[in-house]
Amino acid sequence: MKLTHFSLLVAFVLQGVYAVPNLPSNDLKPRRTSSILINPAAQPALPSAQQAASSSASVGLNLTNIQGDILIGMKKNKELFFFFSIVDPTSFKSQLGADILPLITSTTELLAVSTQPNTLVNIAFSQRGLTALGITDNLGDSLFTAGQLNDASSLGDTTSNWVSEFAGTSIDGVLLLASDTVDNINNTLSQLQSTLNGSISEVYSIQGQARPGNEQGHEHFGFMDGISNPAIDGFSTPLPGQAVVAPGIILVGEQGDGTTRPSWAIDGSFLAFRQLEQRVPEFNKFLIDNALSEPNLTVDQNTELLGARMMGRWKSGAPVDLTPLVDDPVLAADPQRNNNFNYTHPDFNLATDQSHCPFSAHIRKTNPRADIGGSFSEHIIRAGIPYGPEVTDAEAASNVSSTDPTLERGLAFVAYQANIGNGFAFLQQFWANNINFHTSSVGQDPIIGVATPDGPRSVGGLDPLDSTRDITLNQDFVISRGGEYFFSPSLSAIQNTFSA
Ligand code: HEM
Ligand SMILES: *[C@@H]1O[C@H](CO)[C@@H](O)[C@H](O)[C@H]1NC(C)=O
Ligand SMILES: *[C@@H]1O[C@H](CO)[C@@H](O)[C@H](O)[C@H]1NC(C)=O
Ligand SMILES: *[C@@H]1O[C@H](CO)[C@@H](O)[C@H](O)[C@H]1NC(C)=O
Ligand SMILES: *[C@@H]1O[C@H](CO)[C@@H](O)[C@H](O)[C@H]1NC(C)=O
Ligand SMILES: *[C@@H]1O[C@H](CO)[C@@H](O)[C@H](O)[C@H]1NC(C)=O
Ligand SMILES: *[C@@H]1O[C@H](CO)[C@@H](O)[C@H](O)[C@H]1NC(C)=O
Repeated sequence: MKLTHFSLLVAFVLQGVYAVPNLPSNDLKPRRTSSILINPAAQPALPSAQQAASSSASVGLNLTNIQGDILIGMKKNKELFFFFSIVDPTSFKSQLGADILPLITSTTELLAVSTQPNTLVNIAFSQRGLTALGITDNLGDSLFTAGQLNDASSLGDTTSNWVSEFAGTSIDGVLLLASDTVDNINNTLSQLQSTLNGSISEVYSIQGQARPGNEQGHEHFGFMDGISNPAIDGFSTPLPGQAVVAPGIILVGEQGDGTTRPSWAIDGSFLAFRQLEQRVPEFNKFLIDNALSEPNLTVDQNTELLGARMMGRWKSGAPVDLTPLVDDPVLAADPQRNNNFNYTHPDFNLATDQSHCPFSAHIRKTNPRADIGGSFSEHIIRAGIPYGPEVTDAEAASNVSSTDPTLERGLAFVAYQANIGNGFAFLQQFWANNINFHTSSVGQDPIIGVATPDGPRSVGGLDPLDSTRDITLNQDFVISRGGEYFFSPSLSAIQNTFSA
């Protein structure tokens, strides 16, 4: 009896909530009461709509013209990457302006829960896709023009590991659909597909999702991600320690972009997509087998310490530069402090002392801060999401990742930048894979670096008791399964240049 009354009450209340009058007639964009984005304490909050409006006005940035995924970082809860090929360019061009553009989510819309759509919809095109649409202007980025497959050997990829769809030549674009539930994403996708009526076809797709429970915001090795992205002048207020970059480092044609571009390309951004498989049981076994030997730490703590020194942060997100021997979860959860370091310390030799953070650590390789003077333009906005299931009991017990393709897990890596050769590709090739960066013979980045040709590699600086000791990695724990380079145009470019 009570249950029935309760259910009736719930049904009544729900009806009251959902039957909001004056909903936009387009049912893909109802007003929301909870955010489609995650917001773990360690990750910086987005600016409020009001803050963003006033800072963007000060540099003349139009956040309503910029696709929403570009500036928000790794905050999606669920995200589908739908790689497509254009089957009927004429129909697709007319649908782009009439049917797709009204669904494209701008940056402004994401900043207040009340203006968020049910599902974020963004779209980006490969060079092949631009050509299919008859867009012949040169965007001024040679890596984009050539496509990622042509960059594979420079990136150190073993192309036999590439997913065949990325190694083929049929991907014209990608739809990014993100929401708090897969149900919403599926509904949006089916509505899009019925609107598009076969003008594009699916080549490949990846469903990403934030990890469950307390792991939300952490990548599959267990480390909190999405903490450090540069602050963009005109978008976000910098947190202590955060790099600040001109908008043109990320957005094409904006102040700070040194390349000549077609005028319509302004406010677009290049999206470097990578499917990066993570071999989690193997990584965990490596940490156990190579645990460090700090005298005052337990074996488990010495195991954790090795992982933290490889990454440059503890799993909580606390930077080893600030807390070298023990994790500090309170520091980790405080965005005012968790990015406020640059590897310098009083009475400390920055050029030789690895007692706080190894030179090879992933975050030091990919953002060397004061090591190279503190001010440089090789910055990206990372906007990826984990994909694949949690490690199964059988995998954990055997220390080996399953060969079942449905159990593959990793990072659906997304980097935005105005110049791929100065952004993602630079970080991977000249920093992560370079044994001499930033100092002689330190080895590759132990997380994402690879030897060329692929094989065992030795990484320096990981042992705080003996910085001259190299540790050998007989395998890579991150394996590139390939990807593609895309251009994510502004809303006005979709309207005026991409549509017909
Ligand atoms: C599966 C592969 C990867 C994993 C597991 C991973 C993991 C992480 C983690 C845990 C952090 C620290 C959290 C943060 O600062 O936000 C981080 C930071 C970062 N990663 Fe990765 N990452 C991966 C791939 C890459 C790739 C391919 C690149 C670029 C080539 C990259 C560039 C960066 C940068 C620039 C930072 C911020 C460094 C800083 O500002 O301190 N990551 N990554
Ligand atoms: C900002 O961009 C939107 C979307 O392209 C456009 O409708 C609007 O007119 C632009 N505003 C200004 C002030 O240029
Ligand atoms: C969403 O669609 C995918 C692909 O069609 C399907 O595998 C999955 O079960 C669907 N999920 C939900 C929650 O409907
Ligand atoms: C959908 O595509 C089919 C086959 O190309 C065509 O006959 C039909 O008219 C299209 N429907 C709409 C609503 O455009
Ligand atoms: C270990 O702990 C002892 C006692 O607390 C302290 O005297 C010593 O300095 C510590 N050693 C290291 C390497 O931290
Ligand atoms: C590094 O941080 C220290 C302390 O905040 C600061 O004094 C110094 O100028 C910074 N160095 C660089 C190169 O940014
Ligand atoms: C998994 O690796 C750990 C650490 O090396 C080891 O103790 C354990 O015996 C291994 N399990 C199997 C089944 O090989």
